[in-house]
Amino acid sequence: MTPTKYIWMNGKLVKWEDAKIHVLSHVVHYGSSVFEGMRVYKTSDGPACFRMNDHTERLFNSAKIYRMDIPFTKEEVNKAILDLVGANNMEACYVRPVVYRGYGTLGVDPSQCPIDIAIAVWPWGQYLGEEALENGVSVCFSSWNRIAPNTMPAMAKAGANYMNSQLIKLEAISHGYAEGIALDVSGHVSEGSGENIFLVRKGALITPTFAASILPGITRSSVIRLAQDMDIKVIEQNVPREALYLADEVFFTGSAAEITPISQIDNIQVGNGKRGPITKKLQDAFFGIIEGRTEDKYNWLTPIPEYKGVTV
Ligand SMILES: Cc1ncc(COP(=O)(O)O)c(C=O)c1O
Repeated sequence: MTPTKYIWMNGKLVKWEDAKIHVLSHVVHYGSSVFEGMRVYKTSDGPACFRMNDHTERLFNSAKIYRMDIPFTKEEVNKAILDLVGANNMEACYVRPVVYRGYGTLGVDPSQCPIDIAIAVWPWGQYLGEEALENGVSVCFSSWNRIAPNTMPAMAKAGANYMNSQLIKLEAISHGYAEGIALDVSGHVSEGSGENIFLVRKGALITPTFAASILPGITRSSVIRLAQDMDIKVIEQNVPREALYLADEVFFTGSAAEITPISQIDNIQVGNGKRGPITKKLQDAFFGIIEGRTEDKYNWLTPIPEYKGVTV
């Protein structure tokens, strides 16, 4: 990770190296956090944040599920993001807001602990590698299921959910794959450890529903919108594992992974083993907008205003 100058913590910009919490904070012991991950892109009109309002809304939704009352408004959080990117003079970066239960008491009951919030930004390249955007990645199904709907809410982007993701990712890496795909507890395809998944079959785009223990991905919703506007049929349904082996194209979506083709699953070649034409079309439309080459007709980009100085 490349450090930047400032991190925003509870309303103040603090130096990167001073952004610390107490080891007895509730979050350290019980995973009590919710967070977001979004990107600022370098566009031809300057840096701009991709779907910031939607990410902030999901952050507040995640907090609501866990009864965490964020001590700032959505507008204040959005402003903090824009200020922080400006203060760190970033042209392009990853943005990580995190809301967590802080230092107070250490029982499981978190109600006496403060709700703290921090935002960090840093440069982060393509999550599964630049080359993956063209050549795709080789992935496997995980022996771990995604969290069951009546155990942990998958619609919340909660820190604790990523213990499940870590098991999926570590297992995949230990077997030589770039990523793992988890099934939900009923055996249908759910998602990757940090990505949603799509398949293309006979020209239609198919993706698991929210009921398959997926995170409601913002890149997923962007891809659905782009596909619909290209008159590609989009179907949200239960997806059996073997449908991925038989698909013409399969790809991941995510703020970190963007739109990454999948070339092999469990060492079975997907389609012709190369990025497929629909994946390429969707990538072109997506990258066209975020690089500022095509019109942002959905208002997905929030420009980063010029930053007028910081006093720390
Ligand atoms: C488990 C999981 N699923 C899906 C996604 C994709 O969501 P988004 O496109 O909003 O980044 C992510 C990434 O945030 C994730 O961690």
